Amino acid sequence: MDRKKKLIVAVTGASGAVYAKVLLDQLLALSDQLREVGVVMSDNARQVWEYELGNRYFDNYPFTFYGKNDFNAPFASGSARYETMVIAPCSMGTLGRIAGGISNDLITRAADVILKERRRLIAVVRDTPFNLIHIENMRTVTLAGGIICPANPSFYSLPSSIEEVAGTVVSRVLDLAGFDVPGYRWNEGD
Ligand SMILES: Cc1cc2nc3c(=O)[nH]c(=O)nc-3n(C[C@H](O)[C@H](O)[C@H](O)COP(=O)(O)O)c2cc1C
Repeated sequence: MDRKKKLIVAVTGASGAVYAKVLLDQLLALSDQLREVGVVMSDNARQVWEYELGNRYFDNYPFTFYGKNDFNAPFASGSARYETMVIAPCSMGTLGRIAGGISNDLITRAADVILKERRRLIAVVRDTPFNLIHIENMRTVTLAGGIICPANPSFYSLPSSIEEVAGTVVSRVLDLAGFDVPGYRWNEGD
């Protein structure tokens, strides 16, 4: 049986484009564990990436990019059997639409499909502070089987650059997605 993963990466317009960049960079290095990577970005994701990272390098990744309204993308249907979806960063707007079942674009439809098929949805939510609506939406997505993995970096690995800080979150995401990844593990002397 083919153990390589079919993965959806969604990038939305929350602050933290660096999380998407580090995730996509690390996926390049994990190509031997991947069968397919489908990427979809919201309009605001492109805008925030350009603003925060000062480039449009997302155009250079050798993954398959789908338009935000492309419901012909394979993972708009459960039949395509993508087993994991990571939304990084995940805006409160996208979180709310997923929690409300409003599948009005490819990102929210793909998340809806992943949840209905009981597959793995990992939402790297980013905002601070949270209002009650955000908290209730995180609760709803959790009850539906999704994993809320906030963009909360850790510092015990002594990261020395913004990308290393972002990497502390991304390595948790890759662990949750079931990849075999090296990385800093507390008190394992890595
Ligand atoms: C520079 C910038 C930073 C933003 N940061 C956040 C954020 O951290 N969290 C959030 O939920 N929305 C943030 N937003 C607002 C979202 O981009 C906006 O709500 C958008 O409608 C989300 O849509 P999307 O999820 O389809 O990208 C930010 C917008 C801009 C322009």
